[in-house]
Amino acid sequence: MAELNIKKLVADRLGENYILHEQYINPTLVKVFRTIKFDRIYAKAKGQYLWDKEGNRYLDMLSGFGVFSIGRNHPAVAQVIRDVLDLDLPNMVQMDCAFLAGLLAEKLVSICPPHLNAVFFCNSGTEAVEAALKFSRAATGRSKFAYLDHGWHGLTLGSLALMGNDEFREGFGDMLPGERIEYGNLDHLERVLAKKDIACLAVECIQGKGVRIAPAEYLPAAQELCRKYGTLLFCDEVQTGYGRTGKMFAFEHWNLEPDIISTSKALSGGYVPVGAMITRRAIYQKLFNRMDRCWVHSSSFGRNNLGMAVGLATLHILEQEKLVERSAVQGQKLMDAVNALKAKHEVLLEARGKGCMIGIEFREPQSLSLKLAWKAVHAAHDGLFAQMVVMPLLDKHHILTQVSGNHGDIIRILPPFVITEEDIAYFVNALDQVLTESQNPLGPMWGLGKNLVKAALANKSVAAHPGQRQ
Ligand SMILES: Cc1ncc(COP(=O)(O)O)c(C=O)c1O
Repeated sequence: MAELNIKKLVADRLGENYILHEQYINPTLVKVFRTIKFDRIYAKAKGQYLWDKEGNRYLDMLSGFGVFSIGRNHPAVAQVIRDVLDLDLPNMVQMDCAFLAGLLAEKLVSICPPHLNAVFFCNSGTEAVEAALKFSRAATGRSKFAYLDHGWHGLTLGSLALMGNDEFREGFGDMLPGERIEYGNLDHLERVLAKKDIACLAVECIQGKGVRIAPAEYLPAAQELCRKYGTLLFCDEVQTGYGRTGKMFAFEHWNLEPDIISTSKALSGGYVPVGAMITRRAIYQKLFNRMDRCWVHSSSFGRNNLGMAVGLATLHILEQEKLVERSAVQGQKLMDAVNALKAKHEVLLEARGKGCMIGIEFREPQSLSLKLAWKAVHAAHDGLFAQMVVMPLLDKHHILTQVSGNHGDIIRILPPFVITEEDIAYFVNALDQVLTESQNPLGPMWGLGKNLVKAALANKSVAAHPGQRQ
C-alpha cells in the first residue's frame, strides 16, 4: 500500500493555494487578498522570516496574530515533537490522568502568581475564554458578563458576547447577556457592577484592536470595583501572554490580581494549537463541585500530548533564550526608532505599546493638498491610509504587517521576540520610505488609495480595508 508522500504533494502542488481556497474554503478572503496584493505563496519559514516560492525573504511583523513569539519553526520545539512521537506515548486515553498535562499545569502554575493555581486545558484562545465564562458563572451564580469597548476575545458565540467591535457581532443574532463598558470610564463600570449581577469583567490589559493601553489607574481601579461588587476579574492574556508585552503576563504591568486568565497563541510554540485557562482553586472547584460533575466542562483534545509537549518546550525556550526580557528590549527599540520619525512625517501620530505589541497610528496631515487626498480616501473608509502603508510595506519592502482596528489608521506590529537590530533598522527605514512617498499627493501611494476605494465600491463593501481580524 502506497503511503501518502506529503513532501511530493507539497512539491507538486504548492502554488494552488488561492485556487483551492477559492473553490473549497473562503472565496471572499481570497478576493480580499488579491485586492490588497497579499496573495503570496509562502514556501518556507524560519524565525522572524518567511520565504516565497521564488525565494524572496519577508520579515514577519505579524507572527500569525501573535502566535510565533519564539520565532517560526523553532528547532527545539520540533525536536520535542519528534521525541514525543518516538515515545509512542498513550494519548487521550481520557479515562486516566494524562502525564504531560500534569507537567505543563505544574509549570504554568509556577510562572503565575501563587493565587492562580488551577489549570483547565483546551485547544484555542476562544475556548480558553469560553472556559473563563463558564467557570465565572459557576463560581458566582450570576449569568451576565461585562466587557470593554473595542474588546476582542474570540469568535465563538460565548466569546462573541464579549465583543466590543460591532462589525463582528452583526448577523449572528442574540448573544449571552452582557454589558459593554465605555473604555476607561470607571463611573460607567461602577453603575453596571453595582447591580451585582455580573459574573466577570473581561479585559485585555492591552487591547489587541488598535493596541490601546488604558490610563495607568484604570485597571487597578476596575479591579477594586470588581472586588467591591463580587464580580470576578478576568484578564484575557490570549494575545498578551507569555512575554508579548515584555512581561510574562500583561496584568503584571499593573500589579493586578486577576481571578481568571485565558492563554493560548504563543504557548503553542507555533506548532500545535493549545489553550489554558488558569484560575484560583476555589473558583475551579465551584464548577467541578461533585463527582457526578467531574466532566461538566472538557474537550476531547484538551490535554493532548503534542499540545502539552509544545507548551513545555515553549516555556523552556522562553526561559533559556531570555525571550521575555528580549521582547521588552527589542520592542522598546522599535518604538523609539519609529517615534524618532515623527519629526519628519507629520502624518505619523505615534508608536505605542509594550514589549513586542506595538501599534503605529497615523493622523490627518495639515498641508492642504495632503489633507484633501486624506479626506478623499477616508470618505470611503476611515482606516484606509493604514492599508495604503501596509500594502507597499509588503509589496516593495517584503514586510508583513496588518491594519489594526476597524476604525482609525493604525497598524499593529507583533514581531517574534527574536527580531534583531538589523530587522528593526530595516523596518524603520522601509516605513520612512513609504511615509516619504505619502508626502506626494500625486504619487503612486494615493493612486493606490483611490484604487482601493474603487475596488470597495465595485464590491459594495469595505474590501478596501480588510485584515482587521485580531
Ligand atoms: C485577546 C484575544 N482573546 C481571544 C482570542 C481568540 O483566540 P483564537 O483565535 O485562538 O480563538 C484572540 C485571538 O486573536 C485574542 O487576541
